[in-house]
Amino acid sequence: MKQNLIRKGRLAEFDEQALRFTSSIAADAWFFRYDILIDLAHVAMLKKQSIIAQTTFEVLTKELLKINEQGYVKLPQDVDDVHVAIETALTERAGSAQAGWLHVGRSRNDEVATCIRMALRHDLLALMDAVLALQDTLLERSASNATTIMPGFTHLQHAQPTTLGHHLLAHCDALERDLARLANSYERTNQSPLGAAAFASTGWPLDRDFVASALGFDGIVENSMDAVSTRDFVIEALAAASNVMITLSRLAEELILWSTSEFGYVEIDDKFASTSSIMPQKKNPDTLELIRAKTGSVIGDFTASVVICKALPFSYNLDLQEITPHLRQGIATTIDCVRIANAVLQTILINKQRLAEMSSVGFTTATELADTIARTAHVPFRTAHTIVGDLARASTRDLNAIDQVGLRYLGKPLSLLGLTADDVAEALDVNRNVAKRDITGGPAASQLKRMLRARRRRHRMRQQRLLLRQTALQTAEKGLLTASGA
Ligand code: ARG
Repeated sequence: MKQNLIRKGRLAEFDEQALRFTSSIAADAWFFRYDILIDLAHVAMLKKQSIIAQTTFEVLTKELLKINEQGYVKLPQDVDDVHVAIETALTERAGSAQAGWLHVGRSRNDEVATCIRMALRHDLLALMDAVLALQDTLLERSASNATTIMPGFTHLQHAQPTTLGHHLLAHCDALERDLARLANSYERTNQSPLGAAAFASTGWPLDRDFVASALGFDGIVENSMDAVSTRDFVIEALAAASNVMITLSRLAEELILWSTSEFGYVEIDDKFASTSSIMPQKKNPDTLELIRAKTGSVIGDFTASVVICKALPFSYNLDLQEITPHLRQGIATTIDCVRIANAVLQTILINKQRLAEMSSVGFTTATELADTIARTAHVPFRTAHTIVGDLARASTRDLNAIDQVGLRYLGKPLSLLGLTADDVAEALDVNRNVAKRDITGGPAASQLKRMLRARRRRHRMRQQRLLLRQTALQTAEKGLLTASGA
């Protein structure tokens, strides 16, 4: 092994096992390309501030671009991390007289925090993009099932009739809040720690804002101690991702249930189902099961990150390095799951007839019948609720049966108080049940139509904002590469 660039003055050779144990070189592949951009921005700033000579700037940028082109795999792997690997490669190519200036006014502490933020912001945009696509599908399937009657559940028991459109839109709304959390987390992620150096900043006259803007950041994490110490933006992103996964897992669980013989509401497309090695008839919802399971993995990544941060003294400790793979993995898994959920949902078959048949099973119209009794016979709702509760145990639910029960509680048949056979028939009609629920947010077709319109408008806005963010990053990156002579 060659002498280690940063150890050689102070320490003897690292134990091989200790190097393997402490090195983050494998995990750092995630942000190799961002580290190069950070180096390019740093040396451009050093030149602007007259900290390095023009020729040094030229040599460093040229060689950094070559290292970038050769790729991560060509870097020395027997070092602490990608930062040392790049500086080692640069020293080999440019000589220490020039390469020795790369790290002036900088520490790996502010460098790695910046790498993580750049990789994360990229992945957050990809995740938001995937969630928007899933919302697109939900909006579409909700619209095409605006009047698809189905039973709604509480405690997984038939409760009241509703529509599949209303149900799917609820999942879409949950994703909207997930998106808002991701967008918030993006804003706090997109701040540059560079210039904080180890934690106490530096006596070199760095221009922190210049570097931040060259790298497409919205601003800087000002306090240099804070800038290198914090990973709260990681916790926040993983918390937002965990919420996305929880949304997905609930949808997945419903689709798994709904695809059983007991329910028979939906059929998953063959492309997204698996069969059994022994039971030839089986069609298993494997993709959905894994979404459900991976929710646990992402929450695990979140949990690991929170616990690693807990009670960690300021400023940098190598504990922080242990968080990075959890972040990369947690966000990547979430992106994967959102995309597969979208694909499953796009192709899933909906059995409208079965949904309609089941929508009245279990006396789902009981609430509406109690409401009707209260409204037409002017009986307090609680009394009407008791009467219908009693009726639920009977086998017939016509006016005659209602009168008999009513007599016991009121001393009078309800038909004498104003309840008619037409009222009863209307209350027991599942479609009328849904149509009546047309106050703000209810499942009535008119409400759903209005909600869909509002959701589509907001969806377009979010898409536009995402595009602006993507373009801002691309523009910054292109500008930096051009200024570096790429
Ligand atoms: N590999 C380290 C990480 O991922 C980089 C920072 C190392 N800093 C240090 N003082 N050892 O966090």
